[in-house]
Amino acid sequence: MDLRAELEKILHDVGPENIWRPVYDNENVLLADGIADMRDGRPQDMSKVDFRGKTVLDLGCNFGFYSFLAKRLGARKVVGIDKDGQVIKGCKLLKAIHGVRDVYFRAEDFTASNIPGTFDIAMLINFLGKVMVTEGIQKSLDAAERLCLSTMIISARPYYRISKHLGGDTENIIKRYPSVYIKNGRFYLMEFVRDFFRDRWDMSIISPDYDCQSVKRTLLFVRK
Ligand SMILES: C[S@@+](CC[C@H](N)C(=O)[O-])C[C@H]1O[C@@H](n2cnc3c(N)ncnc32)[C@H](O)[C@@H]1O
Repeated sequence: MDLRAELEKILHDVGPENIWRPVYDNENVLLADGIADMRDGRPQDMSKVDFRGKTVLDLGCNFGFYSFLAKRLGARKVVGIDKDGQVIKGCKLLKAIHGVRDVYFRAEDFTASNIPGTFDIAMLINFLGKVMVTEGIQKSLDAAERLCLSTMIISARPYYRISKHLGGDTENIIKRYPSVYIKNGRFYLMEFVRDFFRDRWDMSIISPDYDCQSVKRTLLFVRK
């Protein structure tokens, strides 16, 4: 089977619900749409970060959209990590199809495994969603910080309604997060993430100031 056909089979097997960003072949033919809201982690916002010559870690990379973007923006070396072995196979095929160098992919749970080394930039895009928040995000934030030397790019919604988005289990949210972030039936994710890193990192928002609260903001953290 040729590389493109192998990739198409993986995209089919994984299913559209697990493909987050558009996937193209080397002739710019769209192979899969991707279900993510492209206002989250917009390439024009990402390009405000200086990737030139940097080493970059893409945590929860899915089909490598941001790994390849980081490379195009000048990164020296990129590592994409996803716990789904099928999507990592797809990433490796995309790398070969597009003839990209210095981008590597690993199938691992980045919160559990010991990923060697540190990277100038770590990205956690569209990762802190409803399920993650419900299960607790501290391990993911700890891992990103541990692996990152100077810059983190993290996307997060300003808040979630506990009843509508987080399964209505307020006790669970109270158990997992300090009460100061739980107000009026909402969990204030963006404030929690900012304060989680506050002592060691400065945060700024590099996405537009959307009216809509359900769009994730792209947050830039720079080590103090
Ligand atoms: C919502 S998708 C976002 C993908 C990508 N960052 C984007 O914005 O297009 C989250 C991805 O993270 C992966 N993932 C979830 N938990 C993970 C973990 N602990 N370690 C590695 N990958 C993980 C999932 O398999 C999925 O592909």
